[in-house]
Amino acid sequence: MEWAIGYWVLVGILVGWYLYKIKKKNREENKLGVPKGNLGWPFVGETLDFIACGYTSKPVSFMEKRRSQYGKVFKTHLLGTPIIVSTDADVNKVVLQNHGNIFIPAYPKSIRELLGKYSILQINGNLQKRLHALLGGFLRSPQFKARITRDVENSVKLCLFPWKDMHLVRVQDETRKITFEVLVKVLMSVCPGEDLNCLKRDFGEFIKGLICLPIKLPGTRLYKSLKAKERMLRIVRRIVEERKLAMENSQEDGTPKDAVDVLLQDDGVGDYSNETQGLSLDFITGNIIEMMIPGEETVPMAMTLAVKYLSDCPVALQELREENMELKQKIDDACGNYSWIDYMSLPFTQNVISETLRMANIINAVWRKALKDVEIKGFLIPKGWCILASFTSIHMDEENYENPYEFDPWRWNCKTGIASANNNNSIFTPFGGGQRLCPGLDLSRLELSIFLHHLVTTYRWVAEKDEIVHFPTVKMKKKLPITVTSISNSKGSI
Ligand code: HEM
Repeated sequence: MEWAIGYWVLVGILVGWYLYKIKKKNREENKLGVPKGNLGWPFVGETLDFIACGYTSKPVSFMEKRRSQYGKVFKTHLLGTPIIVSTDADVNKVVLQNHGNIFIPAYPKSIRELLGKYSILQINGNLQKRLHALLGGFLRSPQFKARITRDVENSVKLCLFPWKDMHLVRVQDETRKITFEVLVKVLMSVCPGEDLNCLKRDFGEFIKGLICLPIKLPGTRLYKSLKAKERMLRIVRRIVEERKLAMENSQEDGTPKDAVDVLLQDDGVGDYSNETQGLSLDFITGNIIEMMIPGEETVPMAMTLAVKYLSDCPVALQELREENMELKQKIDDACGNYSWIDYMSLPFTQNVISETLRMANIINAVWRKALKDVEIKGFLIPKGWCILASFTSIHMDEENYENPYEFDPWRWNCKTGIASANNNNSIFTPFGGGQRLCPGLDLSRLELSIFLHHLVTTYRWVAEKDEIVHFPTVKMKKKLPITVTSISNSKGSI
């Protein structure tokens, strides 16, 4: 009996001591300007609540609850680390712009294990800027835009064609087929065949490990993903070597046709970091694979969610169809081909895409780590702390968008409205911003435009009831099943 009393007294003292230490630390941090907040339980912090909110239809409720208690910038403790969460657009802007290279990407351990040391997603400073500029410059070039428009068009038509004979189309799976082919073409010009099939299979295996326990033993998820990456590295390395050889023996003008060409043609890559000298083919090979990560899941999810939101909003679908039918008629009458501009200049279609990206929040935030103490808007981000710049909180904030949970593509119409005014600034950031602004931004919009054009001008559809899951990444619970009928012989459906 006595030992039990003693035990509970000891536990009481320890808990009291712990709470006292936390309070004292909080007071000290508050004095220094560290944002207010609660670090939660030892080790787990507030992770459980964060994950629980992620599984609800309103994942942003984790942020909203704390924001109402502590303000737009607050501290918490997630996934084993103290972290400052920003739901403030100005603070996010400073983090994204990253003048002075104070912030570095801070991915969970499993992601760091899977990314190479020199992955564009992990590196900083001049080498990242150089790679970013090379890829971005290529993706913005007129030659690329002309060619990729044809390629995307072909992939979309090829994918949509069998839909009319399919009993049920799972949009999330089908759209993946389009975007994977396009991505692999953009990066290394691989056409349908053995290499594409192997890359598709191994990449699927590889990305399963991005969010998993960081244990690298045979049989574990991480181990299997690393093995899949090794197999991909072998294929990509062969492609890079063959291309280098062909380049050395070629008399052509050297206009790059894909990201492999762009990286091989750049003599500067080796100069930007001594560490990369002599590794340049490995460097290119690894980066080509790692560049697939941000492009692979995002675009098909945006396509899927556009179909979902349009299914729930027949008026928007009707206007979208009318606009695209008009373009189709124009092209058919002129017996011409669609150009990049044709697809990208349909205003309502672009509104639908912007609204989809705003609501979908496919990349809901970026995680960074401060390399030194930094003060933003009076808040101190201490050296070594992580900061999570939340995009969802800003996209779903009534201060920025009226009725934020309503799919309203017309909000992007108003010339003076909040939404329009904020386009492309710190409030609308589906593609991030600053130094790491997504270089695939225009390509993604093009893929979405072409997909929507051919979908709404070819088919009507009826969507089964399905739900959006937000954790760990955005997905449809049932992959969004729809039944389609060709426009020419449809009755009654949307
Ligand atoms: C709807 C589709 C897409 C969305 C929502 C999206 C979103 C983003 C975001 C938010 C970032 C910034 C990450 C950060 O700051 O840490 C990013 C970076 C990046 N994205 Fe995308 N992305 C999309 C499609 C693509 C595509 C198709 C490609 C491939 C060509 C691509 C390639 C990249 C690369 C290479 C980076 C890293 C840039 C750097 O760190 O310098 N993305 N993307």
